[in-house]
Amino acid sequence: MKQLFSILAAIAMTMGIEAKTIVVYFSATETTKAAAQQIAKEQNAVLWEIVPAEPYTPADLDWRNKQSRSSIEMNDPEARPTIKQCTNIMPYDTIYVGYPIWWGICPRIINSWIDNNLPQLEGKTLIPFATSGGSTIKQSVEYLRKTYPSLKWQGGKLIEK
Ligand SMILES: Cc1cc2nc3c(=O)[nH]c(=O)nc-3n(C[C@H](O)[C@H](O)[C@H](O)COP(=O)(O)O)c2cc1C
Repeated sequence: MKQLFSILAAIAMTMGIEAKTIVVYFSATETTKAAAQQIAKEQNAVLWEIVPAEPYTPADLDWRNKQSRSSIEMNDPEARPTIKQCTNIMPYDTIYVGYPIWWGICPRIINSWIDNNLPQLEGKTLIPFATSGGSTIKQSVEYLRKTYPSLKWQGGKLIEK
């Protein structure tokens, strides 16, 4: 059965009709990474990690400290942390976008990734997913829809730990 699937997938790929899905995610402490890996497996999709040019240290992630890097970034709607490597999203029609909830929304590096990939993201289906310490994904999806109204957002799923 497994072999049959591999053969069918190979034929589909040759014909250019394979599922063109990519799972793009940012994860500071690997929780969202595990969720992304699971989705990629289920969707038979390519997996791509958004890696910050400057990694986040535990001190950077201290949300109790108003002077920490994450607090400073989240306090500034225009903050766009630099990403190490760009993504080739051209071949994909459906893009899962995963992130940890920070201050109720997505980390600013998700904005960096979207900004870096506009206008190629236009017309593609974007499906947000997230992990959190208890918050829902709702506010982050509303934020993304409001910030990027021309993009085709679909659904939004919080992955329980
Ligand atoms: C800076 C920062 C802010 C956070 N803000 C929230 C929040 O507003 N609501 C929440 O439920 N969890 C919050 N969390 C917890 C993370 O969303 C949660 O631990 C997530 O699963 C971490 O994912 P990761 O391991 O992929 O980085 C925050 C964590 C950090 C580091």
